[in-house]
Amino acid sequence: MPGLEHLPYAEVWFHAVDDEAWAEASAAARELGKPGLEAWTTTATPEVVEFLVARGYEEVRRYRISELDVAAAPDPGPPAFSLSTFAERPDLADALYALARVAYGDQPGRAGSRIDEAWVDWGLRASEPEGSLIGLEDGRVVAYGSIERKDDGLWWHGFLAVAREHRGRGLAGAIKRAQIAWAKANGVPQLRTATELRLEGMRALNRRLGYTPLYDEIVLRGPGHPAS
Ligand SMILES: CC(C)(COP(=O)(O)OP(=O)(O)OC[C@H]1O[C@@H](n2cnc3c(N)ncnc32)[C@H](O)[C@@H]1OP(=O)(O)O)[C@@H](O)C(=O)NCCC(=O)NCCS
Repeated sequence: MPGLEHLPYAEVWFHAVDDEAWAEASAAARELGKPGLEAWTTTATPEVVEFLVARGYEEVRRYRISELDVAAAPDPGPPAFSLSTFAERPDLADALYALARVAYGDQPGRAGSRIDEAWVDWGLRASEPEGSLIGLEDGRVVAYGSIERKDDGLWWHGFLAVAREHRGRGLAGAIKRAQIAWAKANGVPQLRTATELRLEGMRALNRRLGYTPLYDEIVLRGPGHPAS
C-alpha cells in the first residue's frame, strides 16, 4: 500500500484458504525484512478472514467497493465550486503533492503514511488528466480528486483529498459530481469507488449519487507463518 512501505508488513492478497500460500508469502516477506503480513481479501471469501483471525490477524481497514452505472445515473448537475482539471493545470503538480502528503496519512487506518515526490508520477500523472479535478480558492489548491482506468479496463475514482481547513464544505461532493459529469460526457460505462467504512459521509454521498455496493475489500494485519 503506497505510503505504508516502512511498516513491518508485506502486502499480499488471499483469494482462498491456503496454508502453503501463507507460508510462501511469509517467507518472501521475511526476506524483505518484514515479520508480518498485511493480508487483503474480500467479503466473497469470509473463510479467509476466519483462517487469518484464528492465526492472530486483526482487521485494520475495510473498503466498500461500489459501482455507478454512469448512463443510468441521474445528472449530477453543475458542481457547487468551480473546478479545474489536471489537464488544464499541470503546473499545480507541486501544490497537489503538498496536499497529498498531508491527506494520505489522514485516510482512515493509514496514519503515518509517507509518500515522496515519486507520487507525482505514480499517483498524479498516471491518472486521467481530464477527469482529475482540482478545487482552487484564491488561486490555491484546496481539493483534488483523480480518476483512472485500471489494467482490467475498469474506471475507478482514485485518490480524493481536501485540505484540512476546507473539509466539510462540500468540496469532495462537488468533485465527485463533476467526475460523474465527465464520465457521462466521455462514454465511460461504469465508475467504481472504494470507500473506507469509517468515511460515513462519503458512503452516504455514494448512495445518494446512485452507486451500488458490490463487495468489501478487507485488510488484516498479523504475524507471518510460524514455519517461514
Ligand atoms: C474524505 C474527504 C475527501 C471528504 O472531503 P470533504 O470536502 O470534507 O467532504 P464534503 O464536505 O464534500 O462531504 C461529502 C458529502 O458527505 C456529506 N456528509 C458529510 N458528513 C456526513 C454524515 N455524517 N452523514 C451523511 N452525509 C454526510 C456531505 O453533505 C457531502 O455530501 P453533499 O455533497 O451531497 O452535500 C476529506 O475528509 C479528506 O480529504 N480526508 C483525507 C483523505 C481521505 O480520506 N480521502 C478519501 C479516500 S481516497
